[in-house]
Amino acid sequence: MVGCVIVKDGRVIGEGFHARYGGPHAEPTALAACTESPAGATAYVTLEPCDRYGRTPPCTEALLAARVARVVCASADPTQSGLARLRAAGVDVELLDPGHELARAARRQNAAFRTWTALGRPHVRLKLAATLDGRTATRTGDSRWISGAESRRLVHRWRAESGAVLVGIGTVLADDPALTARDVEPAVRRQPVRAVLDRHARLPLDSRLTRSAEDAPVVAFVSRDAPAARRTALERRGVETAEAASPADALRELGRRQVTSVLLEGGATVAGALVGAGLVDRLALFVAPVLLGDPAAPGIVGPTGALVTSMQDARRTGELESVAVGGDILVDAWLREPA
Ligand SMILES: NC(=O)c1ccc[n+]([C@@H]2O[C@H](COP(=O)([O-])OP(=O)(O)OC[C@H]3O[C@@H](n4cnc5c(N)ncnc54)[C@H](OP(=O)(O)O)[C@@H]3O)[C@@H](O)[C@H]2O)c1
Repeated sequence: MVGCVIVKDGRVIGEGFHARYGGPHAEPTALAACTESPAGATAYVTLEPCDRYGRTPPCTEALLAARVARVVCASADPTQSGLARLRAAGVDVELLDPGHELARAARRQNAAFRTWTALGRPHVRLKLAATLDGRTATRTGDSRWISGAESRRLVHRWRAESGAVLVGIGTVLADDPALTARDVEPAVRRQPVRAVLDRHARLPLDSRLTRSAEDAPVVAFVSRDAPAARRTALERRGVETAEAASPADALRELGRRQVTSVLLEGGATVAGALVGAGLVDRLALFVAPVLLGDPAAPGIVGPTGALVTSMQDARRTGELESVAVGGDILVDAWLREPA
Protein backbone atom coordinates (compact mmCIF):
# COMPACT_ATOMS: atom_id res chain seq x y z
CA MET A 1 0.00 0.00 0.00
CA VAL A 2 1.71 3.13 -1.22
CA GLY A 3 0.68 6.75 -1.72
CA CYS A 4 2.44 9.62 -3.46
CA VAL A 5 1.82 13.38 -3.48
CA ILE A 6 3.67 15.76 -5.82
CA VAL A 7 4.18 19.28 -4.46
CA LYS A 8 5.49 22.29 -6.37
CA ASP A 9 5.89 25.79 -4.96
CA GLY A 10 3.91 24.76 -1.89
CA ARG A 11 0.93 23.46 -3.90
CA VAL A 12 -0.20 19.88 -4.45
CA ILE A 13 -0.10 19.31 -8.22
CA GLY A 14 -0.66 15.55 -8.35
CA GLU A 15 -1.66 12.58 -6.19
CA GLY A 16 -1.76 8.85 -6.71
CA PHE A 17 -1.83 5.53 -4.93
CA HIS A 18 -1.19 1.89 -5.71
CA ALA A 19 -4.75 0.67 -6.14
CA ARG A 20 -4.22 -3.05 -6.71
CA TYR A 21 -1.54 -5.71 -6.90
CA GLY A 22 0.02 -5.70 -10.38
CA GLY A 23 -1.51 -2.30 -11.19
CA PRO A 24 0.37 0.97 -11.72
CA HIS A 25 2.38 2.16 -8.73
CA ALA A 26 1.71 5.34 -6.74
CA GLU A 27 4.53 7.45 -8.25
CA PRO A 28 3.69 7.12 -11.99
CA THR A 29 -0.01 7.50 -11.12
CA ALA A 30 0.69 10.75 -9.24
CA LEU A 31 2.99 12.01 -12.00
CA ALA A 32 0.36 11.27 -14.65
CA ALA A 33 -2.22 13.14 -12.57
CA CYS A 34 -0.07 16.30 -12.33
CA THR A 35 -1.88 19.45 -13.38
CA GLU A 36 1.41 21.07 -14.41
CA SER A 37 4.97 19.94 -15.13
CA PRO A 38 6.47 18.06 -12.13
CA ALA A 39 9.97 19.21 -13.14
CA GLY A 40 11.66 20.62 -10.05
CA ALA A 41 8.85 19.41 -7.75
CA THR A 42 9.02 17.35 -4.54
CA ALA A 43 7.52 13.86 -4.44
CA TYR A 44 6.31 12.68 -1.03
CA VAL A 45 6.06 8.89 -0.93
CA THR A 46 5.04 6.54 1.88
CA LEU A 47 7.40 3.76 0.74
CA GLU A 48 10.80 3.77 -0.97
CA PRO A 49 10.28 3.82 -4.75
CA CYS A 50 11.02 0.56 -6.56
CA ASP A 51 13.99 0.44 -8.90
CA ARG A 52 13.52 -2.91 -10.63
CA TYR A 53 11.37 -4.12 -13.49
CA GLY A 54 8.55 -6.08 -11.90
CA ARG A 55 5.00 -6.13 -13.17
CA THR A 56 5.50 -2.44 -13.99
CA PRO A 57 8.60 -0.37 -14.94
CA PRO A 58 10.68 1.01 -12.01
CA CYS A 59 9.27 4.10 -10.28
CA THR A 60 12.78 5.56 -10.04
CA GLU A 61 12.77 5.81 -13.86
CA ALA A 62 9.44 7.64 -13.83
CA LEU A 63 10.64 10.12 -11.17
CA LEU A 64 13.90 10.76 -13.01
CA ALA A 65 12.16 11.13 -16.39
CA ALA A 66 9.78 13.67 -14.81
CA ARG A 67 12.84 15.57 -13.44
CA VAL A 68 11.50 15.57 -9.88
CA ALA A 69 14.07 17.46 -7.77
CA ARG A 70 13.38 16.06 -4.32
CA VAL A 71 11.93 12.86 -2.88
CA VAL A 72 10.75 12.64 0.72
CA CYS A 73 10.10 9.07 1.79
CA ALA A 74 8.37 7.83 4.96
CA SER A 75 9.70 4.26 5.03
CA ALA A 76 12.49 2.25 3.43
CA ASP A 77 11.70 -0.85 1.39
CA PRO A 78 14.12 -3.60 2.46
CA THR A 79 13.67 -5.31 -0.92
CA GLN A 80 14.59 -2.25 -3.04
CA SER A 81 17.38 0.28 -3.45
CA GLY A 82 15.40 3.08 -5.08
CA LEU A 83 16.60 5.83 -2.75
CA ALA A 84 20.27 5.07 -3.48
CA ARG A 85 19.50 5.08 -7.20
CA LEU A 86 17.77 8.48 -6.99
CA ARG A 87 20.58 9.93 -4.87
CA ALA A 88 23.17 8.70 -7.37
CA ALA A 89 21.21 10.46 -10.13
CA GLY A 90 21.39 13.76 -8.24
CA VAL A 91 17.93 13.84 -6.68
CA ASP A 92 17.72 15.38 -3.19
CA VAL A 93 16.47 12.43 -1.10
CA GLU A 94 15.16 12.50 2.46
CA LEU A 95 14.19 9.39 4.40
CA LEU A 96 12.22 10.15 7.57
CA ASP A 97 13.78 9.14 10.86
CA PRO A 98 12.38 5.67 11.76
CA GLY A 99 11.07 7.13 15.05
CA HIS A 100 8.99 9.77 13.25
CA GLU A 101 5.25 9.33 13.76
CA LEU A 102 4.63 9.25 9.98
CA ALA A 103 7.43 6.73 9.47
CA ARG A 104 5.79 4.43 11.99
CA ALA A 105 2.38 4.90 10.36
CA ALA A 106 3.88 4.07 6.95
CA ARG A 107 5.51 0.89 8.28
CA ARG A 108 2.29 -0.17 10.02
CA GLN A 109 0.37 0.34 6.79
CA ASN A 110 2.53 -2.33 5.17
CA ALA A 111 2.90 -4.53 8.25
CA ALA A 112 1.94 -7.69 6.35
CA PHE A 113 4.48 -7.27 3.56
CA ARG A 114 7.22 -6.07 5.92
CA THR A 115 6.75 -8.90 8.44
CA TRP A 116 6.63 -11.52 5.72
CA THR A 117 9.80 -10.28 3.98
CA ALA A 118 11.71 -9.75 7.25
CA LEU A 119 10.67 -12.88 9.16
CA GLY A 120 9.42 -15.31 6.51
CA ARG A 121 6.11 -15.66 8.34
CA PRO A 122 2.82 -13.80 8.03
CA HIS A 123 1.91 -10.81 10.15
CA VAL A 124 -0.37 -12.06 12.96
CA ARG A 125 -3.25 -10.04 14.30
CA LEU A 126 -5.02 -11.58 17.26
CA LYS A 127 -8.70 -10.69 17.37
CA LEU A 128 -10.83 -11.49 20.38
CA ALA A 129 -14.10 -10.36 21.90
CA ALA A 130 -14.09 -9.92 25.66
CA THR A 131 -16.60 -9.06 28.34
CA LEU A 132 -15.96 -6.04 30.54
CA ASP A 133 -14.46 -8.40 33.09
CA GLY A 134 -12.07 -9.83 30.52
CA ARG A 135 -13.74 -13.15 29.67
CA THR A 136 -13.94 -14.71 26.21
CA ALA A 137 -16.56 -17.41 26.91
CA THR A 138 -18.64 -18.81 29.74
CA ARG A 139 -17.20 -21.65 31.76
CA THR A 140 -19.31 -24.01 29.62
CA GLY A 141 -17.81 -22.61 26.41
CA ASP A 142 -20.59 -20.34 25.16
CA SER A 143 -19.32 -17.17 23.47
CA ARG A 144 -22.07 -16.29 21.01
CA TRP A 145 -22.25 -13.47 21.05
CA ILE A 146 -20.09 -11.28 23.23
CA SER A 147 -19.52 -8.49 20.72
CA GLY A 148 -22.22 -6.70 18.75
CA ALA A 149 -23.25 -6.97 15.10
CA GLU A 150 -21.09 -4.03 13.94
CA SER A 151 -17.98 -5.58 15.48
CA ARG A 152 -18.69 -8.89 13.84
CA ARG A 153 -19.22 -7.18 10.50
CA LEU A 154 -15.82 -5.53 10.85
CA VAL A 155 -14.24 -8.92 11.54
CA HIS A 156 -15.67 -10.24 8.29
CA ARG A 157 -13.94 -7.40 6.48
CA TRP A 158 -10.67 -8.22 8.25
CA ARG A 159 -11.05 -11.84 7.19
CA ALA A 160 -11.51 -10.71 3.60
CA GLU A 161 -8.31 -8.67 3.87
CA SER A 162 -6.30 -11.52 5.43
CA GLY A 163 -4.41 -14.28 3.67
CA ALA A 164 -5.50 -16.77 6.33
CA VAL A 165 -7.74 -17.07 9.37
CA LEU A 166 -6.32 -19.23 12.15
CA VAL A 167 -8.01 -20.83 15.18
CA GLY A 168 -7.33 -23.56 17.73
CA ILE A 169 -9.22 -26.84 17.51
CA GLY A 170 -10.92 -25.96 20.83
CA THR A 171 -12.76 -23.13 19.09
CA VAL A 172 -13.84 -25.39 16.23
CA LEU A 173 -15.16 -28.01 18.65
CA ALA A 174 -17.02 -25.39 20.72
CA ASP A 175 -18.40 -23.11 17.99
CA ASP A 176 -18.22 -24.98 14.67
CA PRO A 177 -17.36 -21.72 12.85
CA ALA A 178 -17.29 -21.33 9.05
CA LEU A 179 -14.48 -18.70 9.22
CA THR A 180 -15.34 -17.33 5.78
CA ALA A 181 -15.62 -13.61 5.00
CA ARG A 182 -19.32 -12.98 4.46
CA ASP A 183 -21.48 -9.97 3.54
CA VAL A 184 -18.54 -7.72 2.77
CA GLU A 185 -18.40 -4.90 0.24
CA PRO A 186 -16.83 -5.19 -2.28
CA ALA A 187 -17.57 -8.91 -2.54
CA VAL A 188 -14.68 -11.22 -1.62
CA ARG A 189 -12.75 -12.36 -4.65
CA ARG A 190 -10.80 -15.00 -2.77
CA GLN A 191 -11.68 -16.43 0.62
CA PRO A 192 -8.82 -16.60 3.15
CA VAL A 193 -7.21 -19.94 3.86
CA ARG A 194 -8.94 -21.32 6.94
CA ALA A 195 -6.35 -22.93 9.19
CA VAL A 196 -6.70 -24.89 12.43
CA LEU A 197 -4.00 -25.76 14.97
CA ASP A 198 -5.09 -29.35 15.51
CA ARG A 199 -2.21 -31.55 16.67
CA HIS A 200 -4.31 -34.72 16.96
CA ALA A 201 -6.39 -34.24 13.79
CA ARG A 202 -9.59 -33.91 15.81
CA LEU A 203 -11.33 -31.70 13.23
CA PRO A 204 -14.80 -33.28 12.93
CA LEU A 205 -15.76 -34.69 9.55
CA ASP A 206 -19.18 -33.06 9.83
CA SER A 207 -17.86 -29.63 10.88
CA ARG A 208 -18.70 -26.60 8.79
CA LEU A 209 -15.03 -26.25 7.93
CA THR A 210 -14.78 -29.80 6.60
CA ARG A 211 -18.09 -29.63 4.78
CA SER A 212 -17.06 -26.45 2.96
CA ALA A 213 -13.44 -27.48 2.27
CA GLU A 214 -14.12 -27.92 -1.45
CA ASP A 215 -15.37 -24.32 -1.71
CA ALA A 216 -12.58 -22.54 0.20
CA PRO A 217 -9.28 -24.02 1.41
CA VAL A 218 -9.03 -25.58 4.88
CA VAL A 219 -5.68 -26.61 6.37
CA ALA A 220 -5.36 -28.57 9.60
CA PHE A 221 -1.89 -28.29 11.12
CA VAL A 222 -1.30 -31.63 12.78
CA SER A 223 1.61 -33.20 14.61
CA ARG A 224 3.68 -35.94 13.03
CA ASP A 225 2.04 -38.61 15.20
CA ALA A 226 -1.55 -37.57 14.50
CA PRO A 227 -3.69 -40.65 13.72
CA ALA A 228 -3.12 -41.50 10.05
CA ALA A 229 -6.71 -42.71 9.60
CA ARG A 230 -8.07 -39.36 10.75
CA ARG A 231 -5.77 -37.53 8.39
CA THR A 232 -6.83 -39.69 5.46
CA ALA A 233 -10.52 -39.20 6.28
CA LEU A 234 -10.07 -35.42 6.36
CA GLU A 235 -8.01 -35.38 3.17
CA ARG A 236 -10.72 -37.38 1.39
CA ARG A 237 -13.13 -34.58 2.21
CA GLY A 238 -10.83 -31.94 0.80
CA VAL A 239 -9.17 -30.77 4.04
CA GLU A 240 -5.42 -30.49 3.71
CA THR A 241 -3.49 -31.85 6.67
CA ALA A 242 -0.02 -30.35 7.01
CA GLU A 243 2.53 -31.35 9.63
CA ALA A 244 3.68 -28.62 11.99
CA ALA A 245 5.69 -29.19 15.15
CA SER A 246 4.67 -25.82 16.62
CA PRO A 247 2.61 -22.71 15.85
CA ALA A 248 5.83 -21.10 14.55
CA ASP A 249 6.18 -24.00 12.14
CA ALA A 250 2.59 -23.58 10.97
CA LEU A 251 3.14 -19.86 10.36
CA ARG A 252 6.35 -20.54 8.46
CA GLU A 253 4.45 -22.97 6.26
CA LEU A 254 1.75 -20.35 5.58
CA GLY A 255 4.54 -17.89 4.76
CA ARG A 256 5.98 -20.35 2.26
CA ARG A 257 2.57 -20.34 0.59
CA GLN A 258 2.77 -16.55 0.14
CA VAL A 259 0.33 -15.88 2.98
CA THR A 260 1.50 -12.53 4.37
CA SER A 261 -1.23 -11.89 6.95
CA VAL A 262 -3.07 -14.05 9.46
CA LEU A 263 -6.11 -13.14 11.51
CA LEU A 264 -5.85 -15.28 14.66
CA GLU A 265 -9.35 -15.71 16.06
CA GLY A 266 -8.63 -17.58 19.28
CA GLY A 267 -9.38 -19.16 21.56
CA ALA A 268 -7.50 -18.17 24.67
CA THR A 269 -5.35 -21.33 24.71
CA VAL A 270 -3.77 -20.84 21.29
CA ALA A 271 -3.70 -17.08 21.84
CA GLY A 272 -1.52 -17.71 24.91
CA ALA A 273 0.68 -20.15 23.00
CA LEU A 274 1.30 -17.68 20.18
CA VAL A 275 1.75 -14.65 22.44
CA GLY A 276 4.20 -16.68 24.55
CA ALA A 277 6.18 -17.63 21.45
CA GLY A 278 6.37 -13.97 20.39
CA LEU A 279 4.24 -14.67 17.33
CA VAL A 280 1.47 -12.09 17.81
CA ASP A 281 2.20 -8.72 16.25
CA ARG A 282 -1.03 -6.88 16.95
CA LEU A 283 -4.01 -7.36 19.22
CA ALA A 284 -7.55 -6.27 18.32
CA LEU A 285 -9.76 -6.59 21.36
CA PHE A 286 -13.47 -5.88 21.18
CA VAL A 287 -14.60 -5.01 24.68
CA ALA A 288 -18.35 -5.49 25.02
CA PRO A 289 -20.80 -4.15 27.61
CA VAL A 290 -21.30 -7.59 29.20
CA LEU A 291 -20.32 -8.86 32.63
CA LEU A 292 -19.90 -12.52 33.50
CA GLY A 293 -18.51 -12.33 37.01
CA ASP A 294 -17.29 -15.91 36.88
CA PRO A 295 -13.63 -16.47 37.70
CA ALA A 296 -13.81 -19.89 36.03
CA ALA A 297 -14.71 -18.37 32.66
CA PRO A 298 -11.70 -18.25 30.29
CA GLY A 299 -9.82 -14.98 29.95
CA ILE A 300 -8.35 -13.30 26.90
CA VAL A 301 -4.93 -14.85 26.67
CA GLY A 302 -4.31 -18.26 28.25
CA PRO A 303 -0.98 -19.24 29.80
CA THR A 304 1.91 -17.85 27.77
CA GLY A 305 4.54 -20.10 29.27
CA ALA A 306 6.10 -17.27 31.27
CA LEU A 307 5.26 -16.82 34.93
CA VAL A 308 5.16 -13.11 35.75
CA THR A 309 5.11 -12.25 39.43
CA SER A 310 6.03 -8.59 39.25
CA MET A 311 4.42 -5.84 37.19
CA GLN A 312 7.90 -4.78 36.25
CA ASP A 313 8.28 -7.99 34.28
CA ALA A 314 4.86 -7.74 32.64
CA ARG A 315 4.71 -7.40 28.89
CA ARG A 316 3.90 -3.82 27.82
CA THR A 317 2.42 -3.09 24.43
CA GLY A 318 2.75 0.06 22.39
CA GLU A 319 0.36 2.92 23.07
CA LEU A 320 -3.28 1.77 22.99
CA GLU A 321 -5.70 3.16 20.46
CA SER A 322 -9.43 2.76 20.81
CA VAL A 323 -12.51 3.39 18.77
CA ALA A 324 -16.21 2.77 19.38
CA VAL A 325 -17.71 0.08 17.15
CA GLY A 326 -21.46 -0.04 17.71
CA GLY A 327 -21.89 -0.61 21.44
CA ASP A 328 -18.38 -2.10 21.83
CA ILE A 329 -14.96 -0.53 22.15
CA LEU A 330 -12.23 -1.79 19.91
CA VAL A 331 -8.83 -1.66 21.59
CA ASP A 332 -5.91 -1.82 19.20
CA ALA A 333 -2.47 -2.70 20.59
CA TRP A 334 0.74 -3.35 18.68
CA LEU A 335 2.87 -5.98 20.39
CA ARG A 336 5.59 -5.78 17.77
CA GLU A 337 6.25 -2.93 15.38
CA PRO A 338 6.90 -4.01 11.80
CA ALA A 339 10.61 -3.67 11.04
N1 LIG B 1 -14.47 -14.35 22.61
C1 LIG B 1 -13.76 -14.69 21.57
O1 LIG B 1 -13.29 -13.82 20.82
C2 LIG B 1 -13.52 -16.13 21.29
C3 LIG B 1 -12.77 -16.49 20.17
C4 LIG B 1 -12.53 -17.84 19.95
C5 LIG B 1 -13.02 -18.78 20.82
N2 LIG B 1 -13.75 -18.39 21.88
C6 LIG B 1 -14.25 -19.38 22.85
O2 LIG B 1 -13.11 -19.98 23.45
C7 LIG B 1 -13.35 -21.36 23.68
C8 LIG B 1 -12.29 -22.16 22.97
O3 LIG B 1 -11.02 -21.76 23.39
P1 LIG B 1 -9.96 -22.80 23.92
O4 LIG B 1 -8.91 -22.02 24.61
O5 LIG B 1 -10.67 -23.89 24.64
O6 LIG B 1 -9.45 -23.48 22.58
P2 LIG B 1 -8.49 -22.99 21.40
O7 LIG B 1 -7.48 -22.05 21.90
O8 LIG B 1 -9.30 -22.60 20.24
O9 LIG B 1 -7.82 -24.36 21.03
C9 LIG B 1 -7.04 -25.04 21.98
C10 LIG B 1 -6.49 -26.31 21.39
O10 LIG B 1 -5.59 -25.99 20.35
C11 LIG B 1 -4.72 -27.08 20.18
N3 LIG B 1 -3.35 -26.64 20.00
C12 LIG B 1 -2.61 -26.80 18.87
N4 LIG B 1 -1.38 -26.31 19.03
C13 LIG B 1 -1.31 -25.83 20.29
C14 LIG B 1 -0.29 -25.23 21.06
N5 LIG B 1 0.93 -25.02 20.55
N6 LIG B 1 -0.56 -24.85 22.32
C15 LIG B 1 -1.79 -25.03 22.85
N7 LIG B 1 -2.80 -25.62 22.17
C16 LIG B 1 -2.57 -26.03 20.91
C17 LIG B 1 -4.85 -27.95 21.44
O11 LIG B 1 -5.53 -29.14 21.07
P3 LIG B 1 -4.63 -30.39 20.58
O12 LIG B 1 -3.71 -30.70 21.71
O13 LIG B 1 -5.58 -31.44 20.25
O14 LIG B 1 -3.87 -29.89 19.39
C18 LIG B 1 -5.70 -27.13 22.35
O15 LIG B 1 -6.54 -27.90 23.17
C19 LIG B 1 -14.73 -21.63 23.17
O16 LIG B 1 -15.63 -21.58 24.25
C20 LIG B 1 -15.01 -20.51 22.21
O17 LIG B 1 -16.39 -20.22 22.13
C21 LIG B 1 -14.00 -17.09 22.14
